Amino acid sequence: MRLWKRLYVNALENALNAIPNIEGVLLGYNTNIDAIKYLDKDDLEKRIEEIGKDKVFKVIENPSEKISSLEDLFGGILRSIKLGKAMEWFVESEEVRKYLREWEWDELRIGGQAGIMANLLGGVYGIPTIVHIPQNPKLQAELFADGPIYVPVFEGDELKLVHPKEAVADEEELIHYIYEFPKGFQVFDIQAPRENRFIANADDYNARVYMRKEFREGFEEIAKKVELAIISGLQVLKEHYPDGMTYRDVLDRVENHLNILNRYNVKTHFEFAYTANRRVREALIELLPKFTSVGLNEVELASIIEIIGDEELAKEVLEGHVFSVIDAMNILMDETGIERIHFHTYGYYLALTQYMGEEVRDALLFASLAAATKAMRGNLERIEQIRDALSVPTNERAMILEEELEKEFTEFENGIIDMTDRQLTFVPTKIVASPKSTVGIGDTISSSAFVSEFGMRKK
Ligand code: AMP
Ligand code: GLC
Repeated sequence: MRLWKRLYVNALENALNAIPNIEGVLLGYNTNIDAIKYLDKDDLEKRIEEIGKDKVFKVIENPSEKISSLEDLFGGILRSIKLGKAMEWFVESEEVRKYLREWEWDELRIGGQAGIMANLLGGVYGIPTIVHIPQNPKLQAELFADGPIYVPVFEGDELKLVHPKEAVADEEELIHYIYEFPKGFQVFDIQAPRENRFIANADDYNARVYMRKEFREGFEEIAKKVELAIISGLQVLKEHYPDGMTYRDVLDRVENHLNILNRYNVKTHFEFAYTANRRVREALIELLPKFTSVGLNEVELASIIEIIGDEELAKEVLEGHVFSVIDAMNILMDETGIERIHFHTYGYYLALTQYMGEEVRDALLFASLAAATKAMRGNLERIEQIRDALSVPTNERAMILEEELEKEFTEFENGIIDMTDRQLTFVPTKIVASPKSTVGIGDTISSSAFVSEFGMRKK
């Protein structure tokens, strides 16, 4: 334990010193408004009674996976609470969208992986950040932090970078209604086994990975200005859209962007959110060789192993067997040739890299501190706040895993295992006992680790 305390303190200093070395990050593609509501038992029960408890409860067992009625909405919320699982369903009905707006929210935040990372990397870490925003209404623009956050805009033929607040347009508000609940939250006879959230997604743009003209026509100019790029938001893709568009149309454009980024030597990270459609998931795995790095959790890694490995290993990954996770990461690296894989789960992170260095571990430790800060406060606002997370307890249970790793790999030292052609890095993470909110922690982890590692390796 004492060892990790010292490693955490050093990692924080190293990361803080290195972050100013990063000259520019590009974030694509999903940005939206997150309207967060902390669920209230009485209010929720009253609303469900009004609609009809029986009708709502039916949806819990037979999930519709999308929202066409109020039964679907509340059935989804209850299912998420019952299983303690994060879920996100698309809202198809205008009537439900109106209801959601009228139900109001407790707090608005910038949302979408790209949007969240923009406020973190640009707003908190002070790294010049270019972000893609499908729509830029005033309500959303105001949620961006001050600082070096930019959107590209054409002025005549010239591409200019301005803060989103300076490019407000009369465009659509893409709202994701997020219903958060704490561990133990009780509604009727249903109790949440852990904290989590249900998302009702009322956003027609990110659902088809809509790209602005600047990104379609001026991407080369944008790529020239950055050293790093983080791509996310492709998880929502469907096979076909009513107007004839398919996921391939989007992925061809993304591939073209990756070719340009690679040509300019930009290091790229893909944030692999859970992708329900199997065909799309396969296509995303095929795209991985074009990336430098990928970030994922146990559900996402298992969903990949279902395709490139076998059902048995996928199951073990889901159950959290650490050696199965390591096998799965090795398979993914063999299959795609990707240089860096960052796995995060509750209590520990692993990284598998085709290069060596303590920076990989320090970056994971820094990410764990950033995640704990985010969990504690709901929102990270200033980089100095991360220091407070040093006093959050480090996960005790990960120590058992550490011992197992030590037994299996004799060269294991200070979290690092030299596997001759690869390095495996393990860190136990900080765990916040009662997090204020859960949305965006994964994004905080992956982006903090990716950029800080790059900054530290650059020195
Ligand atoms: P994701 O699964 O991508 O949404 O990311 C969630 C991640 O956040 C998990 O893998 C954990 O590593 C981290 N996390 C979740 N809850 C907490 C908490 N209470 N304290 C610290 N980290 C957390
Ligand atoms: C998904 C949700 C978005 C949320 C993000 C957090 O992209 O659609 O609302 O902000 O996940 O990771």
